[in-house]
Amino acid sequence: MANQAKLNAAGKDFDFPVLQGSVGPEVIDIRKLYAQTGKFTFDPGFTSTASCESALTYIDGDEGVLLHRGYPIGQLAEHSSFMEVSYLLLNGELPSKDELDTFSYTISRHTMLHEQLATFYRGFRRDAHPMAIMCGVVGALSAFYHDSTDIADPEHRKISSHRLIAKMPTIAAMAYKYAVGQPFLYPDNNLSYTGNFLRMTFGVPAEEYEVIPAVEKAMDRIFILHADHEQNASTSTVRLAGSSGANPFACIAAGIACLWGPAHGGANEAALNMLKEIGTPDRIPHYIERAKDKNDPFRLMGFGHRVYKNYDPRATVMQSTVREVFEALKVTDPLFETALRLEEIALNDPYFVEKKLFPNVDFYSGIILSAIGFPTTMFTVLFALARTVGWVAQWNEMISDPGQKIGRPRQLYTGPTQRDYVPLDKR
Ligand code: SDX
Repeated sequence: MANQAKLNAAGKDFDFPVLQGSVGPEVIDIRKLYAQTGKFTFDPGFTSTASCESALTYIDGDEGVLLHRGYPIGQLAEHSSFMEVSYLLLNGELPSKDELDTFSYTISRHTMLHEQLATFYRGFRRDAHPMAIMCGVVGALSAFYHDSTDIADPEHRKISSHRLIAKMPTIAAMAYKYAVGQPFLYPDNNLSYTGNFLRMTFGVPAEEYEVIPAVEKAMDRIFILHADHEQNASTSTVRLAGSSGANPFACIAAGIACLWGPAHGGANEAALNMLKEIGTPDRIPHYIERAKDKNDPFRLMGFGHRVYKNYDPRATVMQSTVREVFEALKVTDPLFETALRLEEIALNDPYFVEKKLFPNVDFYSGIILSAIGFPTTMFTVLFALARTVGWVAQWNEMISDPGQKIGRPRQLYTGPTQRDYVPLDKR
């Protein structure tokens, strides 16, 4: 029978439907596998598992292709804006000018935080990692917006999505201000989404802050590059949290927590710290050998990817953006030369070639963010800020699916089989 996969288990044949998406690998529908065979599949890390159906983002890891609703990331990075890409991810089509203006205006109406939330920051040490603050403050949003947590109501889902997208720049900027001991700045909605964020971060009271257009454009492009990325670890976390019916603010806080890890969104901070540790190009061979040494936990941060077995198309854009920002700010950074040399050496080393390890989105981003003025501790915060639109779009897609169920994986149990309790005096 066409489009069937046959499995022989315990001497019996079982047929399972094979489903084809609009593009990409076919999937074997094993939803009835356990009921029919009494067996589970085993796939720790989900290397061969499609967890859901989605129409948002498509990645071809072998070809280095990334599409958002069909549009290549390179074209969106060159021609679009983060507000436009946000509209596209949420609604499925590029907006008309009126639709974009209305969407941007709606988002700008939600950039302010409830004044009580500002007191949450004062509970943290000044040297708290900004990602710890993001986890806490975003999770706390659900204590302030009881009017938009009925996930069954599309209007509630819409306003909480807009609130999250709009408030992340304010929360992120406040985390930075708190760390440096400067007063918080309120949003200025006469500025663009990204210009507003830059001013809240680097502006000071009673002083006109000038948004540098080239920096605003580079920052906006970096937000586009981080907006969504299929079923990565933090997006899968948001979907799993959302599958229980948790409110969207709690789900996004869960995604932020997962993104923090150095194997995921925390890699941009780790990559710049690695480049600082390497320092000059003459020290690169030592670190390349360490990265190849099975007994050394050191890895080249910003290199490798679960899906991309080719150059991450976002890294390509990121590398060219480094040059634009350096030119605009009339600065340079010797670490960029070290990064370029490290990439050149690694991509010509058989270990990296055979394992198909290429620079990913995190390899160059830290150099740009550092040039703009962000401390490394803010890098993953900026990733979370941008990824919020992807998380809420994926969450909405899941919650809107009438067939969605709570996510509840099974396991291969290897612990003790049943045994009787032994009283303390008998042990
Ligand atoms: C992001 O999923 C997404 O889409 C994530 C993301 C998004 O937008 O959401 O793209 C953002 O998280 C990008 C990745 C950022 N992380 C890093 O840069 C950290 C360094 N990279 C690695 O830790 C690793 O490459 C991962 C975690 C990204 C991917 O790991 P996998 O797919 O589980 O691959 P693996 O660990 O099994 O590695 C395969 C082999 C291993 O060697 P063997 O066991 O086969 O001998 O490659 C080696 C690894 O040791 N390897 C590396 C390496 N990455 C993998 N060796 C040295 N340096 C590296 N960076």
